[in-house]
Amino acid sequence: MDLLKRPRRLRGGDSIRRMVRETRMDKSSLIYPMFVMDGEDKVEEIPSMPGQYRYTLDHMGEKLQRLSDAGVGSVMFFGIPAVKDAMGSQAYADDGIVQRALRRAKEEFPGLYYITDVCMCEYTSHGHCGVLCGHDVENDATLDLLARTALSHVQAGADMVAPSDMMDGRILAIRNRLDENGFKETPIMSYAVKYASAFYGPFREAAGSAPSFGDRKSYQMDPHNSREGVKEALLDVDEGADIVMVKPAMNYLDMITRVREVTNVPVAAYSTSAEYAMVKAAAANDWVDEERIMCEMAVSAYRAGAQIYLTYYAKELAKCMDEGRIG
Ligand code: PBG
Ligand code: ZN
Repeated sequence: MDLLKRPRRLRGGDSIRRMVRETRMDKSSLIYPMFVMDGEDKVEEIPSMPGQYRYTLDHMGEKLQRLSDAGVGSVMFFGIPAVKDAMGSQAYADDGIVQRALRRAKEEFPGLYYITDVCMCEYTSHGHCGVLCGHDVENDATLDLLARTALSHVQAGADMVAPSDMMDGRILAIRNRLDENGFKETPIMSYAVKYASAFYGPFREAAGSAPSFGDRKSYQMDPHNSREGVKEALLDVDEGADIVMVKPAMNYLDMITRVREVTNVPVAAYSTSAEYAMVKAAAANDWVDEERIMCEMAVSAYRAGAQIYLTYYAKELAKCMDEGRIG
């Protein structure tokens, strides 16, 4: 055979395969989503997310230590409050669960980078991401509460805030509130392209945040839409988002690529709770190779254009990166 071009030449051994690798990853781009809850002396496994736990603050440090030892430098806090009400008041309470977690974590592990999810759904009795007027989620009335929440997180020590509510105008509202209070340098990572997805199911179980009626389709995006995702990303960049996120990751890789092309800010991808749960369930049956599936999912998000990857597998991925199985 007289073949001039033989792609296999570049796949002949490990050295050459590594040399020509197009996607390179680094532990510093990993963010670990972590659940902190009110109460004492509890570490509760999340039933649909084996290996993931809800920590009371007296146990949070054990996990932060393991992350830090693994070289995962960033965490994103989600709070599970003791009480919920219609206005989600624990979201912006000075002694709310996330605010207390931040103060303690910053003291015990000052070297980590702390990001907070800013939303109402973990704190509202009805489980929606904003305040209600009848059965509608009121956009403009929610903005002030989101801004208050973000400010209280930053005052408690958050290094970055990440609004996940999908209200219109929330990035600008938060940016203004932070600036007015002297936090001009605190970045905002927007959950900009966030779909109304079944891939958040296990998270809602973990946080007890499933809506008590209806769904999130009036604020989260329709999975059929791609150009609308571009609109959302551009709007958030205009409003001052420093980083934009696509969520979920695995089934929205096209959106990672599109958002990367149309913006000039870093793009993050969130591998959600159900992505994790599905892998765990299949692996528990010995139907898939968990580590290889996990690595391939991560690689595909980075290959699509993500620079930052949020994953419940952060610690395990960091290990694979250290040992050269991925990267
Ligand atoms: C809060 C929020 C959710 C997730 C991140 N922030 C749940 C939701 O929107 O219902 C999902 C995370 C995951 O599934 O891992 N709005
Ligand atoms: Zn929410």
